[in-house]
Amino acid sequence: MNDPIGTAAHAPHPPGCPAHEEAVRLSGPAFQQGPSELYRSLRGRYGSVAPVLLEGDVPVWLVLGYTEVTYVTAHDELFARDSRRWNQWGAVPADWPLLPFVGHQPSVLFTEGTEHQRRAGVVTEALEAVDQFELAHRCREIAESLINAFAGSGQAELTTAYAHALPMRAAVRMCGMPAHGADTEGLVRDLRISLGAAENDDPVAAYVRVQERIQRLVEGKRRAPGPDVTSRMLAHPAALTDEEAVQDLIVVMAAAQQPTANWICNTLRLLLTDDRFALNVSGGRLSVGQALNEVLWLDTPTQNVIGRWAVRDTTLGGRRIRAGDCLVLGLAAANTDPRIWPEGRVGAENSAHLSFGNGEHRCPYPAPMLADVIARTAVETLLERLPDVVLAVEPDELTWRPSVWMRGLSSLPVSFTPVVALGEYRNGNQR
Ligand code: HEM
Repeated sequence: MNDPIGTAAHAPHPPGCPAHEEAVRLSGPAFQQGPSELYRSLRGRYGSVAPVLLEGDVPVWLVLGYTEVTYVTAHDELFARDSRRWNQWGAVPADWPLLPFVGHQPSVLFTEGTEHQRRAGVVTEALEAVDQFELAHRCREIAESLINAFAGSGQAELTTAYAHALPMRAAVRMCGMPAHGADTEGLVRDLRISLGAAENDDPVAAYVRVQERIQRLVEGKRRAPGPDVTSRMLAHPAALTDEEAVQDLIVVMAAAQQPTANWICNTLRLLLTDDRFALNVSGGRLSVGQALNEVLWLDTPTQNVIGRWAVRDTTLGGRRIRAGDCLVLGLAAANTDPRIWPEGRVGAENSAHLSFGNGEHRCPYPAPMLADVIARTAVETLLERLPDVVLAVEPDELTWRPSVWMRGLSSLPVSFTPVVALGEYRNGNQR
């Protein structure tokens, strides 16, 4: 790619833009297919904090530097989470596609200070009590039933049939929904539509149904608690109201779904396209762990997070930030910041990446471990069941979903030698 900044159209300086210079649109095909090129160009041109325009030419700062993202996320008193302080609300159209992520909701995501500690404490303790072995066992069951649906055909499109379906089912089970039944199926379907609607879907109607179903789940668990995240949240001494519990359960289910699904997908892509892994996938599980970690450094699911809002006038990376300015956390850009990789070898076998965020609002600490269990089980089970799985297209034919926020493939078609159905498989392979 030559000059992604050149191809992403420069926009004229809109009124109220936080930048005092031309800002760059954070969208377009160049960005979607090769974001690392754009981050490199932005860094070269603006340094570690760049003025960019989101859809509708709404101006925000993109924080690209590892040090700067770490600083912003560690200083809640300066860069806070409540979006109501945004100084650009006047420029945001009523049908702005990012409203569902930015418009204030009474959930853990938008709370601050002691109220955030209360809400995040409930989520953290409820997730902490998830038995990781049981979760792995459930994920394996879910994985096997999903694989069983296409195992005999010798081909599959793994994003829909596997990578997105598996964490969704794992998350709703973890929260206490039954394994089967119309309610669970309905919730899985509506969460999928509300998180990434296809052409004829209605995400708003789906989101309303998600709220209604979670409300019913909360009422049911108040009456008859079980060994699940929902019941533990309701029993917590912080005494959540039903509305708070519903809001935070939706956050937990949604947060568990998209990033974990894309983590699985991006890892499978790496394993299927990179010789370093392809050569020894069957040789040991270590390489699956390495691939999962490398993806978090180089192809992280949550590329950018919107965001933080400046509490008062300040400076960052040499820029003057005004009170109420919005900052997008460029997690993917920060992970590949050349200042932390002076020798150019990005993706070491440590976990100092920012893929799970940082500071008060980071992914609550049991969640990355649970996500690892889900993703690892998904990848390993697939490779065990379909040991000769290969890509069904050339690697450069794979395309990425058109999103600035999440990095995930549009599709991952594979082929393999057809294998026996689940029942036969189990009989011959008792675990
Ligand atoms: C079991 C799976 C997961 C669960 C239950 C979960 C849950 C959550 C929750 C509840 C939050 C909100 C924290 C807050 O605002 O206080 C959060 C934040 C976050 N999660 Fe996760 N998550 C999961 C997997 C992942 C994965 C796989 C990734 C990416 C690789 C990820 C990346 C993030 C990031 C970057 C944030 C921080 C957003 C910010 O700073 O504003 N999560 N997660």
